[in-house]
Amino acid sequence: MTSKIAVIGFGNIAKAIITPLFDKKLLNPKDVYCLVNTKKSLENIKKNYKYDINIFQANSKGSEIIWDCKVKLLSVKPQQIKNIIELENNNNNLLVSILAGVSLEKLIKRFPNHKCIRVVTNIPITIGKGLTGISWGYEITDDQKQLIRRLFENSSKIYEFPEDLLDIFLALTSSGPAIIALIIEALSDGGLSGGLQKNLSEELVMEMILGTVNLIRETNLTTAELKNMVTSPGGTTISALRVLENRCLRSALIEAVVSASNRSKEFR
Ligand SMILES: NC(=O)c1ccc[n+]([C@@H]2O[C@H](COP(=O)([O-])OP(=O)(O)OC[C@H]3O[C@@H](n4cnc5c(N)ncnc54)[C@H](OP(=O)(O)O)[C@@H]3O)[C@@H](O)[C@H]2O)c1
Repeated sequence: MTSKIAVIGFGNIAKAIITPLFDKKLLNPKDVYCLVNTKKSLENIKKNYKYDINIFQANSKGSEIIWDCKVKLLSVKPQQIKNIIELENNNNNLLVSILAGVSLEKLIKRFPNHKCIRVVTNIPITIGKGLTGISWGYEITDDQKQLIRRLFENSSKIYEFPEDLLDIFLALTSSGPAIIALIIEALSDGGLSGGLQKNLSEELVMEMILGTVNLIRETNLTTAELKNMVTSPGGTTISALRVLENRCLRSALIEAVVSASNRSKEFR
């Protein structure tokens, strides 16, 4: 794929992005140089991670080698970015940030000797079903874009956006799994209230959601058509929907997405 890749912050999401590339032999573990902050994480990765990567604790002897890599994946928490000090002379190298909400402008100020790229991905990337939004920075060549797409395309679907749409992409796709988890939990509690065992109730909810999504996809029904199909006059479903309309569920979901997007903008 490329000669060397550095991962600054080899945590959950970085592992989810990089591990499938090792699994598919698209990347050689020997060519990957990773940094973590604590000795505990270093030892944990050395002991338990299934591939033998080059791993260093930040600021330890030899860790500067990561700055020799042509591509760096920045995957620390947004509040930890202040601890990363750029050691770079070659201004054709790439820095790909997956930090929620941190703008290209901020990245370019912090890493002036890199060409910066901002990426938003989501937690289903850990099972190869992620969604990744990419906003290219300045002067990225087509070959460089192709290289970066290859980092993510094994574990996610890729969408390319101007940066001002990344916040709403993040709200929908990165915050979305928590919203869906909450909906699954609440519907399961509904089943529990009606006398079902919790596990069975949760299983039924998840199968129902999967089946509904597949039905919409496979038949090209609109969501309104599907709703009308299962809503009979004076029936059970319209009774349920009335409760949700009364409690403003639609408005709450719209506002939740807008709120997450606004919060992401505040990090800039
Ligand atoms: N979680 C999500 O759903 C999600 C989705 C998309 C994007 N993101 C973004 O992904 C980023 C990482 O999230 P995560 O969930 O993977 O976090 P995480 O598991 O906590 O990983 C952060 C990693 O950064 C390391 N680190 C901290 N300070 C460092 C320093 N000064 N130098 C080098 N490494 C350092 C940590 O090392 P230690 O373990 O030693 O502290 C850890 O390996 C965040 O910016 C987040 O916005 C997260």
